[in-house]
Amino acid sequence: MRVKIENNPYLLKKSLEAVAVFLFEGELPAGWSVDAIDKAANGVIQQIWEKNDFEGKLHQTAILYPRGDVGIRRVILVGLGKQGDFSADKLRSAGAKAGQAARSLKVKSLAMTLEADKLGLSWETATEASVEGIILGLYQYTDFKTLDRESIKEVELLQVFIMDNENMSLVKAAAERTETICRAVYFVRNLVSAPANEMTPGIMAREALAIAKGHKKIKTTVLEAADMKRLGMNALLGVARGSDEPPKLIIMEYQGAGKGHPPVVLVGKALTFDSGGISLKPAEKMDEMKADMAGGAAVIGAVCAAADLQLPVNVVALIPATENLPGGKAVKPGDILKSMSGKTIEVLNTDAEGRLILADALTYAGRFKPAAIIDIATLTGACVVALGDHVMGMMGTDENLKNRIKKASEQTGELLWELPLWENYHDLVKSDIADYKNSAGRPGGAITAAAFLSKFVGSYPWVHLDIAGPAWLTKDQAYNPKGASGAGVRLFVQLLRNWSDVA
Ligand code: BES
Ligand code: MN
Ligand code: ZN
Repeated sequence: MRVKIENNPYLLKKSLEAVAVFLFEGELPAGWSVDAIDKAANGVIQQIWEKNDFEGKLHQTAILYPRGDVGIRRVILVGLGKQGDFSADKLRSAGAKAGQAARSLKVKSLAMTLEADKLGLSWETATEASVEGIILGLYQYTDFKTLDRESIKEVELLQVFIMDNENMSLVKAAAERTETICRAVYFVRNLVSAPANEMTPGIMAREALAIAKGHKKIKTTVLEAADMKRLGMNALLGVARGSDEPPKLIIMEYQGAGKGHPPVVLVGKALTFDSGGISLKPAEKMDEMKADMAGGAAVIGAVCAAADLQLPVNVVALIPATENLPGGKAVKPGDILKSMSGKTIEVLNTDAEGRLILADALTYAGRFKPAAIIDIATLTGACVVALGDHVMGMMGTDENLKNRIKKASEQTGELLWELPLWENYHDLVKSDIADYKNSAGRPGGAITAAAFLSKFVGSYPWVHLDIAGPAWLTKDQAYNPKGASGAGVRLFVQLLRNWSDVA
């Protein structure tokens, strides 16, 4: 979809397929765009409002058809809920509803007016939230649909009308940034949606190399199994042993600041398929484990968006990628692996494979002498049990880094909640015969996984994000249609945008 910012008075002179109007619950506001659109549309808004058939309740929508010889063919009303409960995230959701309503009407171009002051938001936030909600809500994955392709509906153009020229360039820049970020989210959703036979570690590495090609400031390197062997990455290699697909460690380095600045290292778990290995998962929903590379995909998207936005920060993305399959050479419960750090790991459950590959990647992250290490992983079902499927779990060792991530979460609407990583959890990952064990059973499963990871981080500020819930949605959420959500991308980009504010 293309986004065009236009000048408001122009709105009424145009013939428009559909105009979205966002309204708070309660009084019909007297304001430029609502009044003007209503006038241009022969009073249809006033009419439905008086009849109480549309009250502006959150996500409520109504389609109005102005009669007579008017330029506006349809008005799409979308409720924002009560003004007192309003937030930028509500605007994102409402935007998604508007876009989806337009698409279901087979509308090719959607117009909207933007009045940041009426919404009580800055121009920047109002633009970003509305455009982001509309674009993200219209995502659909159709790569493998071959029949009836002409019935796939798409909104091709979004026209945003603003009233004053004064804010024009500000709004244009904000819209462009949003398009860049949404492009990264779409890219990630496509990677995650792809079936595992079309998204092997090798293919993922090729995708990373291909997307990085468009960015001069990203250097991409792919480590092969032989390199891993040389480095002693036996935890990663141990997981890969059950599969015929060779593992890859994808390294993407974006230099947005001077050489001397220590980078933020983002580590993303990329199991292109997780069958559980010898500790095989049940058949039901095993297909969803094609999405077990969502963390890896998210960090690829984030580093590309950082480069596109030319953020003044150094970023490294590390993506350990492999399959977890129960082949003849597969790691077995009880096996002991020696990790790159030298620490030994007793593999009690081969389905706790994410922490094994992350262990070596986290150790490798130390080579960059990072300012911070953040890993993101579809790591535990326990995190979904604890927080539900729309919230990511956060654990870590550094208060400052956690606060930065919390701030980015509030700005982007990517919900997260901190779980404790107290001392006593660390005892639970000690092994009887090796240094650590990779499973401590069900109690506190999300936290013991993080406790395990912490053993491989070294002394760098570190935070772990468990996205087992939000990475893959089984139900539509306003601007995250069901399936791959791209969880973490917007959070990371916002974190990196804020980075220099405080640093
Ligand atoms: N990839 C899974 C976690 C997962 C579960 C992600 C559901 C998304 C949805 C992970 O590798 C796994 O299998 N974890 C085990 C750990 C256990 C064996 C200690 C789990 O959560 O059951
Ligand atoms: Mn697993
Ligand atoms: Zn997994």
